[in-house]
Amino acid sequence: MYRIFIVPLERMNEKKNILVTGGAGYIGSHTVVELVNQGFLPIIVDDFRNANPVVLSGLRNIIGFEPIVERIDCCDRNALRDVFQRHSIDGIIHFAANKAVGESVANPLKYYHNNISGLVNVCETAIEFGIDDLVFSSSCTVYGEPIGIKEVTEEMASPMGQSPYGYTKIIGEQLLKDTQLAFPQLRVINLRYFNPVGAHPSAEIGEFPIGRPNNLLPFMTQTAVGKWEKLTVFGGDYPTHDGTCVRDYIHVVDLAKAHVAALDFLANSQGSVFEAINIGTGKGTSVLEMIQTFEAISGENLNWEMGERRPGDVIEIYANADKAKHMLGWSAHFTIVDAVKDAWNWELKLKQV
Ligand code: UD1
Repeated sequence: MYRIFIVPLERMNEKKNILVTGGAGYIGSHTVVELVNQGFLPIIVDDFRNANPVVLSGLRNIIGFEPIVERIDCCDRNALRDVFQRHSIDGIIHFAANKAVGESVANPLKYYHNNISGLVNVCETAIEFGIDDLVFSSSCTVYGEPIGIKEVTEEMASPMGQSPYGYTKIIGEQLLKDTQLAFPQLRVINLRYFNPVGAHPSAEIGEFPIGRPNNLLPFMTQTAVGKWEKLTVFGGDYPTHDGTCVRDYIHVVDLAKAHVAALDFLANSQGSVFEAINIGTGKGTSVLEMIQTFEAISGENLNWEMGERRPGDVIEIYANADKAKHMLGWSAHFTIVDAVKDAWNWELKLKQV
């Protein structure tokens, strides 16, 4: 009697298969590209609630084939199990989460439900199916408002969240720490992103903010194409070099590459791993400097005004990115100028379609 083994198609070419939850989103889609560039096969899990299906044709144009997509919600445990049953998976990158700070204050349960239940399901399913390597989308929000220090290192994380969104990242890291202690075969890296900006240099993929963007650069580019009347700078009286808040803006392609470096690190590690790693450039840029850069790159005169401070804004923060360099061999390659140029080209492309 013969036994028939069904080998999933993607398994036949010996590539490592990486489940990418939220893989159709902004950071997820750029990571899918970098995974393919490095010989991995991404399996996108996304319910498209915050992603535009147009991203799939952009992805196809860059990677040269139709990406594998599973349209499910990570909060649906049975649907997630079904995906793990149908694909052979070697590692997971968990992006799927909500990320708008203001919305999280207005609707905290949406954030606790989606961001925490999704992560619990991913962990439970990973353990059940014996998948050990997990990269988690964390954020510099875990540093809160750093007192007296602007360049933060990984051990400076605060237990105090700035918002329900912030708490979901703090709780997410803790949940992973406790789970990893109980299941030492797990190997986990929390990547703490600073401020992701820009788009793919091909202008095939980028950010699709739904409604009014909360983040600075998409609001700037959308204002320049006339979608909004003017940009309000949230506060000009902060104790920074020009009075506006300072952030570490990291090009989304650099950020995407950090995930591939993290997976490589996990694959080459022996035994347990639990790490948190900053992903930023190590340089701070103020809001006014972002406006100046945008005007210089685009040749546009941006309509902006100085406004009130936005409640909850951190004054000045940027990454100490030494750990990423030493541990992952990763450092940022693109500059703010590259990021603004790519974000602007992406906005111009969106205007045409
Ligand atoms: C926030 C979160 C961060 C999260 C990111 C997700 C906190 C404290 N920060 O970052 O963890 O990863 O969103 O996208 O939870 N600005 C203006 N006018 C605007 C928009 C922004 O002046 O119309 C200023 C802000 O005041 C801030 C800077 O631009 O100084 C960047 O703001 P934003 O892009 O919203 O990111 P963060 O608040 O830094």
